[in-house]
Amino acid sequence: MSKIILVSNRLPVRLNEDGTPQRTTGGLASALAAVESEKPQHWVGWSGNSLENTPDPEALRESMAKLDIVPVFLSEDEIDGFYEGYANATLWPLLHYMAQRARFENDWAEHYRRANEKFADAILEIVEEGDTVWIHDYHLFLLPAILRDRMPNLKIGFFLHTPFPSSEIFRVLPERQEILQGLLGADLIGFHTYNYLRHFRSSLLQILGLESDMDHLYLDGRRPSFGVYPIGHNHKGFHEAMAHPGYLETHAEMSGSLKDRKLILSVERLDYTKGVPQKLAAIRHFLENYPQHRGNVVFAIIAVPSRESVDEYAELTEDVQREVGAINGEFATMDLAPINFLHRGFPPHELAAFYSLADSCLVTPLVDGMNLVAKEYVDCKRKKFNARPGALILSEFAGAAPEMPHALRVNPYSVSEVAAAIDQALTMPEDEMWERTRAMQDHIVKNDAGAWANRFVADLEEHSCDLNEDSGVSDLSVLFDSFKSQGQKALFLDYDGTLRGFENKAEDAVPDSELVPLLKRLSKHVRIAIVSGRPKEFLEKHFAGHGFALVAEHGYRWSRPDSPEWALVNPLVDVSWKEDVIPHLEQATQVTPGTHIETKPSALVWHYRLADPEFGLWQAHRLLSELTETTASLPVAVHHGKKIVEVASQQVSKGSAVEFLINDWNCRTALAVGDDQTDETMFAIEADIQNYHTIHIGGSDTRANHLSDIHHFRSFLEELADHLEA
Ligand code: UDP
Ligand code: G6P
Repeated sequence: MSKIILVSNRLPVRLNEDGTPQRTTGGLASALAAVESEKPQHWVGWSGNSLENTPDPEALRESMAKLDIVPVFLSEDEIDGFYEGYANATLWPLLHYMAQRARFENDWAEHYRRANEKFADAILEIVEEGDTVWIHDYHLFLLPAILRDRMPNLKIGFFLHTPFPSSEIFRVLPERQEILQGLLGADLIGFHTYNYLRHFRSSLLQILGLESDMDHLYLDGRRPSFGVYPIGHNHKGFHEAMAHPGYLETHAEMSGSLKDRKLILSVERLDYTKGVPQKLAAIRHFLENYPQHRGNVVFAIIAVPSRESVDEYAELTEDVQREVGAINGEFATMDLAPINFLHRGFPPHELAAFYSLADSCLVTPLVDGMNLVAKEYVDCKRKKFNARPGALILSEFAGAAPEMPHALRVNPYSVSEVAAAIDQALTMPEDEMWERTRAMQDHIVKNDAGAWANRFVADLEEHSCDLNEDSGVSDLSVLFDSFKSQGQKALFLDYDGTLRGFENKAEDAVPDSELVPLLKRLSKHVRIAIVSGRPKEFLEKHFAGHGFALVAEHGYRWSRPDSPEWALVNPLVDVSWKEDVIPHLEQATQVTPGTHIETKPSALVWHYRLADPEFGLWQAHRLLSELTETTASLPVAVHHGKKIVEVASQQVSKGSAVEFLINDWNCRTALAVGDDQTDETMFAIEADIQNYHTIHIGGSDTRANHLSDIHHFRSFLEELADHLEA
């Protein structure tokens, strides 16, 4: 039976020296611990310690194998460069919009690459054809492409547990291209929120120049897809924790020591993204400005130590401890210090007791991919487990905020707003607390970690590996037979984007050395026409003298094998409309740096390939709507192509030229191939012949009956030549 392999740097468990498993902390580990699947599950992840500090790696490997875990061993240097360095001192701050905290060191990136390779090696030890690999988080951005390279048909998913920042921030990363290319090795890439997905797509456009659809793009014959999958908490785990005998014990002890004082809880890893200093400033502000609550309320701050060997974290711990001491020094009385700072992790049953007793939970990250604490708090408010009512205070910058509209929403940077929310929580009627809680419980329970994982895995499994169906590449070998049939046959081939990829400068996109010899081989058996938007000079320079028909300027002019002089396809064509159109194109060029106008005999083209991709696209849409109005009564067609807006005479089209040649050559079988809107006119003709095949290069909407990409199409032409020669 095929299996699912979950891959993350941090495993949900680590092994104690005696071999017993112990939970690890963090949202990723909490959620993944809840993942269940019908297929056997295996894990690949960092052993959690340095190789130098692992007395017997083989023994650890064997113990972990019993839990279906393959450990990845990292040396101290690798931990420095990969985990503490590139992952947590470069990527983590950037992903959380904190570019000023990000540190860049050359050898960190190299360690990161090598660590990703190591994870790939570990996966390859256990993976088999038909398995699914699900990779998690920013430590492993390069892994999808590495695996894709080694096992092209493997089903690979990737989920990012952090935000994906705006491209303005992401582009700061020196390895930005490599990271995006690494991710695109996956079949499905998941984010917590729509905004993160939107930012990712904008980075693809800005950094790699790749335009994508809402939830996918076509790339090298594959179809990487994207989706929004807000992660949930471990609902089952917390309900089991509340049924644990230790839960009631902790509950009773804590209730006893609280007496009738109110408890305001906060729970997080001690990470600068969580805004603990800002929270302390708000608590100070609250104690100063709402003196009526002093002595009646205690703040419990659970701050789990995290990444302490990274400098920023060590400094944060010191700052926080100092400020807690200062606030307590200022506001403590003989029998109460307002802040109880708990600098350690708690097991789930104790954490559940905290959640269930707390009158409010103060979740105030400055930025957070999701934040599970907010969901866990709300879920633990159950009367049947003796929970007290409570109000959730939630930062608007947590990924969880849109899913939890009944929380008291705050801007964590505003101390007065947070202090006012604490006051509101402390004075909120109990009924209202229960109402707000219940209003959120249903949603978060239905969308818990299990449901999240099931949705992601179901979408990943559905994502067809079959290149022919889903990836935008049809099996073209079905066409061979009709090219073996009797009668005249012809190929009508667009050039740019079909026989040759795009370059920034059109003049650089010349045919490669294999193209013309291949077409000559084919032309011994079939007629060939190059049907392009290029000027006649270009086609003549590269394709004349081989007996091909050359159709230039989108069907305006041609030179045919039997009459090689250039002539107009339609001698009666009228182009006086250009006078009305040109002012609009000039205006667009003036306000959009990096754009220019190309004048063709029967068309005008506005090019924006060198403009800022998003601004260029936006201006293209404005221009299109203007032109639609201006040209309503003119004999032209306006179309939006790849980085161009074109206005072309309706009396001229590639389709008309192809139709004429099909009849003139008396074809019985023809194939038309192209990649953009102008080629659709070839696909749309109603050729009254035995076989009329059409292929669209690229994946968007098309009338063509087959899809391909440049690479596969070239292979098809080579195989067709072999077949015809056989
Ligand atoms: N957590 C824990 N023990 C603790 C404190 C926290 O297991 O003493 C868990 C908590 O239950 C939650 C996770 O740590 O599931 C924190 O996840 P969150 O998404 O809030 O933040 P992250 O750590 O991923 O940034
Ligand atoms: C966040 C990250 C996880 C990470 C966790 C704990 O939740 O998204 O990938 O595991 O923090 O951090 P750590 O560095 O201890 O793994």
